[in-house]
Order: sequence, then C-alpha cells, then structure tokens
Amino acid sequence: MAVNVIVGMQWGDEGKGKIVDILSEDHEIVARYQGGANAGHTVVIAGKKFVLHLVPSGILRDGKICVIGSGVVVDPESLFAEMEQLHAGGVKTDGRLVISPRAHCILPVHKEIDKANEAKKGQKKIGTTGKGIGPTYSDKTGRLGIPMFYFADDAKLRSAINSLLEIKNSLLVNFYSAKALDPEKVYGEVKALAAKMAPFIGDTRKILNDGIKDGKNILCEGAQGTMLDLDHGTYPYVTSSYTISGGACVGLGIPPNRIGKIIGVAKAYTTRVGEGPFPTELTDSVGQHIQEEGNEFGATTGRARRCGWFDGPVARYATEINGINEIALTKLDVLDKLKTLNVCVAYKVGGKTVERISDDLSILETAQPVYREFDGWNCSTAGSTLYSQLPDKAKLYIDFLQEQSEAAISIISTGRGREATIVLGR
Ligand code: GDP
Ligand code: IMO
Ligand code: MG
Repeated sequence: MAVNVIVGMQWGDEGKGKIVDILSEDHEIVARYQGGANAGHTVVIAGKKFVLHLVPSGILRDGKICVIGSGVVVDPESLFAEMEQLHAGGVKTDGRLVISPRAHCILPVHKEIDKANEAKKGQKKIGTTGKGIGPTYSDKTGRLGIPMFYFADDAKLRSAINSLLEIKNSLLVNFYSAKALDPEKVYGEVKALAAKMAPFIGDTRKILNDGIKDGKNILCEGAQGTMLDLDHGTYPYVTSSYTISGGACVGLGIPPNRIGKIIGVAKAYTTRVGEGPFPTELTDSVGQHIQEEGNEFGATTGRARRCGWFDGPVARYATEINGINEIALTKLDVLDKLKTLNVCVAYKVGGKTVERISDDLSILETAQPVYREFDGWNCSTAGSTLYSQLPDKAKLYIDFLQEQSEAAISIISTGRGREATIVLGR
C-alpha cells in the first residue's frame, strides 16, 4: 500500500500529466487535490494527444478510479466539456470519476471577475488563466462560496447565491462598471448544472481512506508547481491554492503519516506562463530556440511560455519544502541541439552570493544568476528508453541537475509519448 504524491518543482507545466500517466499503471486510484481547470496536463498515448484540465490523468487507464478532492475548485461547464472530449477520444468514464461534495463550485461570475480584475490591473496583472480560480478560492476562504453539498438543499443554495451576488453585484456595478446579475437566473442555471453533477458527487474522503485501509495504491496528482504555491511561491504572482505536497493531505483529507513517496517533476530547463519574477529567463534567441523545440505554448490558454535555464536554487527549495524523494526529469530531448547549456547554481544579490531561496522573495526580482556552463551533446536523445543510450555529455548534465536538486532522479523523459521514458534502476 502506498499513497504517492506528484508535485511540480518549478512554475507548472513540468510534464506532470505524462509522469502521472506512467505511474498510474501501478496505482488503483488517482486523485487531484488542488487547483481547477487552470491546469492543462498533456498525455500522449500511441500518438494521440489528451489534455486534462480537471479530470485526473488516471482516467486514461481503464479501470482506474479518479477522485477530485475538496481542495479542487470545479467549473461544471468546463468539466462536462472535458468529459465530452474524453468520450470523443474513446475514453470511458462511467462510474470512474468521483468528486467531493466539499469541492467549491466555480460560477460564471467568478470567471467574469477574474478577467475584469486582470483588465483593471493593467500592467500589474498576474497573467491568470481567466478560469475564475482566484475569485472562487477567495469566496471559499471568505465563507461565501458554493460547496457542492449545497446543491442538495434548495434553500441553502438559494440563500448562498443571494448572499454571494449581493456582494458580487456591488463589485460588478461599482468597481468594474459591468452589469449586475439576477440572483434567480443564476440560481436556475446552477440548479441545472447541479442536476448534471449529482451522479459524480460522492464521499471521496471515505473512498481514499478505505482505500488506504484496504492496501490500495493511490497517486495524488498535483497541479501547477511549487513556485506558484499561494504561501511558498512568488507571491502575488502565484495561483490561489496549495500546490506543494502538503496540499495533498489538506485537499484530499488524507493524514500526513499515510503519505509514501513524493515525486517531484522538473523540466531539464525552466518555463513560466504569466507574469512574475523568473531569474534564469532567456529573452534572446536561445530562449526562442527552447520555446520552439519544446513547443512551449500553454495547454490551457495557448500563451507562449517564457523559457530559461534550469534553476538550482528553485530545485533545492522545491526538494526541501515538498520533501521530494525522487525526481522525474522531463524534456531532456528539447536541449539536444544546444552548443552550450547553463545551470544556475546561485544568485548574485547586491554583491552577495545566495545559494538558497529565502522568505525575502524580493530577492528573486533582482537576482543575477550565477551559471555553470556545460557542453551540449549535439545528438538526439529523443525517444531514448535506456540510460545507457544517452551521450556522456547528457549524463554529466543530468548528474549535475541531480546534485543541484539534492534529490535522486529516478525517471528521465525523452519525448511526449508514454514510451519515450527512461526508468532508472530498471
Ligand atoms: P503539466 O501541466 O505539468 O502536465 O505539463 P503540460 O502538459 O502543460 O506541458 C508539458 C508539455 O511537454 C506537454 O506538451 C507534453 O506533451 C510535453 N512533454 C512532456 N514530457 C516531454 C518530454 O520529455 N519531451 C518533450 N519533447 N515533450 C514532453
Ligand atoms: P499546470 O497544472 C503553468 C499560472 C498562470 C498565472 C498564475 C495564476 O498545467 O502546470 P490562475 O489562473 O491560477 O489564477 O493564474 O498561475 N498558472 C499556471 N502556469 N501551469 C499551470 O498549471 C498553471 N495554472 C496556473 O499562468 O501566472
Ligand atoms: Mg500544464
């Protein structure tokens, strides 16, 4: 029996979807614990591409049970669109998806406010996905939200929508110069969605804790990445949930002493979508080359991802706060054509050398990376399935990333497909 956690070690899009897909073969249950449809997890099976936003990536393996925990915020419209796409792709979901009644519901007004807020911020925008994530989590912590167990109680649902809209309408009209919403109309819309959601809602905490007692293997699928964590990321340029491994216990109702391995996913370089500090960012032709080779365009919004070198201090920070036991290193093949590569080992901040990220996040805004240069390997690693197939220069680079990260690399991904994977020690 094991409860293992997958967590992003950078700013998201590390390739978590692909790694969850590989590891889910040995797990009976796959569970999402935070975030919402801001996530875009890509899995490529036999050349066929699937992008999961809300549904755990385990859905792509027959018979696996998929859980969406209370820590996730659920947009029913987006969920149904995603399910339709899965069905069109030949994936059967019947009876395999269970959503916590405590998960909060994203309403259209949350998406409207997310977008209006960003527009109002102008230059100071966060660069959100516009999926209503921040406003929904704000309402949850403000005790104004709509958890899905309200769906079963008309009076409670109507009263909650009225209270919510009293505040939102004032914001919409007075702050965003938008139109007020009619609470009865919104109630009618939510009721219709609630009826469609009913078959999916179940006691996820019981399923997971019974699973643990019955000796089942459970894989917890993180979304976003460590540096986007609400508390431990580059605030305010973060998402609104707890993306670190600790979030799995909170967002699923699993006790911390039941967690087994924590597997961090990191790219062999770094990317970031949206605004915020990024010390190793490359704004030159090398960054553009990585963007093109890595096809670095967002799976959810299509936005170009900013690209840069691997950041050692970020990796060490992620290892420390998540308790990373093993690393899955992805997208090695993207670096195949580079003549030289850099790895950031420390930052220069006001004349001082800093090797670790501290709570003073303003450091990241001015940090000048200190690099160690490596020779490129200039041959293809794409599709490699054995460590012995890798060129020596790539092995040296991987060894150094491992040393910098202070955790062992156990998986190396060399392409998008399931098969393009090296599992070390096998
Ligand atoms: P996630 O959000 O962490 O699941 O990552 P995304 O799916 O948003 O982004 C990762 C992208 O890289 C996807 O398009 C994957 O298909 C792709 N990918 C994953 N691993 C590899 C790899 O080893 N090599 C290459 N070339 N692409 C990869
Ligand atoms: P996956 O799971 C990369 C970023 C957004 C923005 C910030 C806040 O695919 O790795 P939000 O809409 O969450 O309020 O936006 O977080 N962001 C992601 N970046 N991958 C993601 O998910 C992301 N989800 C949110 O770009 O900077
Ligand atoms: Mg993604």
